[in-house]
Amino acid sequence: MEKDRSINMMQEHPVIRCFNISKWYDNICALNNINLDINAGEFIFFTGPSGAGKSTLLKLLYLDERASQGEIVMNGMNIARIPRDRMPYVRRTLGVVFQDFKLIPTRTVYDNVALVLEAAGVKKNIIRQRVLKVLRITGIVRKINAFPPSLSGGEQQRVAFARAVVGEPSIIIADEPTGSLDYDSARVIFNLLLDYNRKGVTILVASHNLHLINETCKAVNGKNPTDGIIRERHLRIVNGVVTESG
Ligand SMILES: Nc1ncnc2c1ncn2[C@@H]1O[C@H](COP(=O)(O)OP(=O)(O)OP(=O)(O)O)[C@@H](O)[C@H]1O
Ligand SMILES: [Mg+2]
Repeated sequence: MEKDRSINMMQEHPVIRCFNISKWYDNICALNNINLDINAGEFIFFTGPSGAGKSTLLKLLYLDERASQGEIVMNGMNIARIPRDRMPYVRRTLGVVFQDFKLIPTRTVYDNVALVLEAAGVKKNIIRQRVLKVLRITGIVRKINAFPPSLSGGEQQRVAFARAVVGEPSIIIADEPTGSLDYDSARVIFNLLLDYNRKGVTILVASHNLHLINETCKAVNGKNPTDGIIRERHLRIVNGVVTESG
């Protein structure tokens, strides 16, 4: 049965805490002293101009880059200082979706998704069940034996999304996941993010698509219209500084 990670948002429970995070690339300050708590089950939208630091912040969270200064505590672990050999364990708790999909062109759709579970040592028959399940959820199971270059952008992003969620992450990080998609394909991806958020997964998405952000926000808050709990948050990043907005 599907694990239900729904939680009572009245009890704030930070799954990510950033303390005085800064990131420099040589003499460029990409992030400037960020302090931020993200609670379990929140749907966070990062917006802001190009070059503002959105991708940099997300990269620190999915361990693609190291902070120059400060601490990041994720699920109780200080990931800013974590040894390299521990990184794969942290990454497995995250589902990451990229604008350019990052699929392996020489492996089938099935293999691209299954690789995540193979790396985690999951048994073959369980892998098959779980891969089929996420390919059905993302609506791409009919392309199971196709190779990524033969798929449209929207189809490739569905596969990338399936790969991100097959490990049942508690946090999904998506950096411009719809940046290279047409409107309908982009909407499919936002709806999938919404579905996973409804299961209790924390979502962090950087996007320039304000129309889809607005539509998704209405849907996020429409879940429990009577409980008065706002689960969606807008964080605007400008010149490496994060502010709450909207
Ligand atoms: N690997 C790198 N080397 C040098 N500078 C970098 C590197 N990555 C990012 N930067 C710089 O850090 C700053 C923040 O970049 P970042 O990619 O985080 O912006 P962004 O908000 O994601 O922009 P966009 O909306 O265009 O994706 C920019 O000034 C960028 O040029
Ligand atoms: Mg970016």
